[in-house]
Amino acid sequence: MTSNSSLKPHKRIYIQEVVTRDGFQAESAFIPSEEKIALLDRLSQAGYAKIEVSSFTSPKAIPMLADAEAVMQGITRVPGVEYTVLIPNLKGAERAIAVGVDEFNLVMSVSEAHNQANLKMGREDSFKALSSVIDLAHANQIAVNISLSTSFGCPMSGITPLSELMHWIDRFSAKGIRGITICDTTGMANPAQVQAVCEHVQVKHPDLQWTLHFHNTRGMGLANSLAAINSGIDRFDASLGGLGGCPYAPGATGNICTEELVHMLDLMGFNTHMKIDLLLECSKDLQKIVGRALPSQLLMAGKVDRVYESLRQL
Ligand code: COA
Ligand code: ZN
Repeated sequence: MTSNSSLKPHKRIYIQEVVTRDGFQAESAFIPSEEKIALLDRLSQAGYAKIEVSSFTSPKAIPMLADAEAVMQGITRVPGVEYTVLIPNLKGAERAIAVGVDEFNLVMSVSEAHNQANLKMGREDSFKALSSVIDLAHANQIAVNISLSTSFGCPMSGITPLSELMHWIDRFSAKGIRGITICDTTGMANPAQVQAVCEHVQVKHPDLQWTLHFHNTRGMGLANSLAAINSGIDRFDASLGGLGGCPYAPGATGNICTEELVHMLDLMGFNTHMKIDLLLECSKDLQKIVGRALPSQLLMAGKVDRVYESLRQL
């Protein structure tokens, strides 16, 4: 750690839940809207800074989230929690404005090949389309965050050059957005790369709200989170139970697991504002919703303060 390390006790770290968007979109069996709403209402009590409720994408592209309106309208919004949604285009933006959201999370890939695969268009066309969405959001006093997929690496194009990432950050930043999420979409980043990228972007754009979005595809998620904190980052996306997947890595785990991130940061003395026991209860119940065990090691082992009566129970 450097001498000006940001790994200081008591520092506030903002946790943002993405399970009902990034997690659920990888599930094949439809989860009824009432179950999504019930889970979101419990999560709203857990201390999150932000919750990504759903995405206003094409229902043909992602049938699981076709009920975004019903879910947004069905949840009980808790003051102090921001409710954001993923928006891919103008049509999605109009749908979201109709139900009222706190933030638009617009998505684009730094890699041309990934943008074509995910959004069916080139990056320049995406930038043009998203510029209109940004104008619409600002006209409606809605905050805008840009999620840049494949910021560290792309399964089709390899390691993402920092210069390419900076190109898109500079252009979006000039549009007056509030924040940018740097996404390691398929878990390719390593801690040294994360620290270098995070230091660079914060120096170049100190006024943007920075979020890091890691997937644990190759087991580097928590290490990457600490590297980001060490560079001054204080905001993370995470998914309850580590739910999620990756179409380019069959069987791979999803986002970093919320309860594992919170448990680690709390033990280190950071201030996450999160209720870890409620998270664990929700994660346990999420296993029933998806019908299988989740990749949360904390759910399997329990917190470090779990006391065993005898070693035979281990
Ligand atoms: N909401 C609802 N319907 C939408 C829509 C939206 N945001 N965007 C497009 N559609 C509909 C169109 O109305 C059209 O419907 P029709 O066939 O009944 O006329 C149909 O979808 C096709 O429209 P088109 O503009 O040609 O879009 P597309 O098929 O090229 O899809 C995306 C482009 C980006 C909207 C779509 O691929 C998508 O939603 N992808 C999901 C991306 C994502 O969220 N990935 C994971 C997160 S990073
Ligand atoms: Zn993701």
